[in-house]
Amino acid sequence: MDWIRQQAGNTSRQPTRSNQSTPVRAEPSTQQALTLEEKKAILLTELKSTYKERYNVVQPIPYIKDKLYCVDKVFVEGSIEGFIERRIPFSTEGSWKRLTSYNHIFTDPRIESVRRIIVGEPGYGKTTLTLQLAYDWCNGVKESPFLDADVLILLRLRQLGNVQSIYRAIKMFLLPNEPRVKQSDIRAILEGCHRVKVLLDGYDEYPERDKTTGSDVDQIVRLEKFRKFEVTLTTRYLPKDLTSRKPNE
Ligand SMILES: Nc1ncnc2c1ncn2[C@@H]1O[C@H](COP(=O)(O)OP(=O)(O)OP(=O)(O)O)[C@@H](O)[C@H]1O
Ligand SMILES: [Mg+2]
Repeated sequence: MDWIRQQAGNTSRQPTRSNQSTPVRAEPSTQQALTLEEKKAILLTELKSTYKERYNVVQPIPYIKDKLYCVDKVFVEGSIEGFIERRIPFSTEGSWKRLTSYNHIFTDPRIESVRRIIVGEPGYGKTTLTLQLAYDWCNGVKESPFLDADVLILLRLRQLGNVQSIYRAIKMFLLPNEPRVKQSDIRAILEGCHRVKVLLDGYDEYPERDKTTGSDVDQIVRLEKFRKFEVTLTTRYLPKDLTSRKPNE
């Protein structure tokens, strides 16, 4: 498990963009004709369309409701530190080190892991960071650590109370209006992918936080499910089950 924390304070950022655009919608003529590959193309188009709806309505000033922006127009690099572990005989030590870019959360070789936790106080920009990562993936930004991801799943944990299945969650919240791709298709598509990245935003808002429910989210957090996928959790505080592994301040 790797730990990342957000801090107050910003620096500017000037990324280089590639020209890659969102792929066109696959429109096979009949339901019978749909192969899993075609359903995957539909899934990707729908995910990108859902993320676009979200990253295009960032509200930089909370009390001004009519000024909405694309995340990429307002996003500035925050102060982010990663917990860098050193393995020593019979134990592990470590310290917090400044990361120069949010991309380094995923690319710094010192914090290589399939599970990451981004901890930040209220308003420090956890949700905004997930939206920027989604923007970068959707728009093929060259520096994006998710550029080579087959699929990016970004879910808000506050919506997932009583939702046992992660595939159901994806269907309900990311493809609500796409009858051609069913829950079972989503499962088959993800199982056939090598590089799936998952962002679970707001563990502190998850109705079943700190409970052992056996739900997919519960299993994912505890590395019992999606073991080969990179999963990142954002939260205001460390999940209870993991506090024994909390890094030193
Ligand atoms: N990197 C950033 N660049 C510019 N504005 C930001 C950035 N991060 C956050 N903001 C602004 O700060 C506000 C709060 O950010 P956000 O909702 O992402 O915080 P959060 O950490 O998710 O908070 P919470 O713990 O309440 O969920 C938003 O209005 C957002 O526009
Ligand atoms: Mg948030």
